[in-house]
Amino acid sequence: MFHGSRAGRASPRAWSGDCDVLRACGALEDTEPIPRSTDVDVIDLLIQQHRELEALFDACRAAKDDASKQELGIQLAEALTLHTTIEERWVYPAARRVVEEKLIQDSVEEHGEMTELIAQMIRARNDPQKLVALFGELEKVVKDHVTMEERDVLPKLGQKVTEQDLGMSCKDIVRTASEVRREEMQKLQGQANA
Ligand SMILES: [Fe+2]
Ligand SMILES: [Fe+2]
Repeated sequence: MFHGSRAGRASPRAWSGDCDVLRACGALEDTEPIPRSTDVDVIDLLIQQHRELEALFDACRAAKDDASKQELGIQLAEALTLHTTIEERWVYPAARRVVEEKLIQDSVEEHGEMTELIAQMIRARNDPQKLVALFGELEKVVKDHVTMEERDVLPKLGQKVTEQDLGMSCKDIVRTASEVRREEMQKLQGQANA
């Protein structure tokens, strides 16, 4: 079975799709690997990202000034986009073999809801009241979605999903998803500025 507790709560500064997670998968060759690198697989990675997303929501809420809120908000949007990309492109296709299709379809719809809320937040960046409301909505959608995944989807995949199941190593998945995330973020920014 899958253990959510294996991934500890990360500090807000611990996140970045470009830092810890990439290092954990060995995707950053010019940096020191962190000690847990050898036993990170994609399911562990998703759980770790869930905890990091929660930490980022907490950090955003606690941020004292607008600049910090904005910086953390961007980190949150990037982290979420990286995470949903990994799930939709690699993990959900593998999950379809063991989880009912409706659950996967609902999950993809919820990801779409998150993307739409992020786009609305970018558009509302100069409207603090609206931003707070959208932030609360996003947090609830993500929280409920994460609870569902950790209860109904990820445990059914077992403790390990092999590279063969996914068609790619964890390292390559994160690397490719990071490129997709960059494109997605540019697209969102472009739409918001249009
Ligand atoms: Fe998800
Ligand atoms: Fe997830």
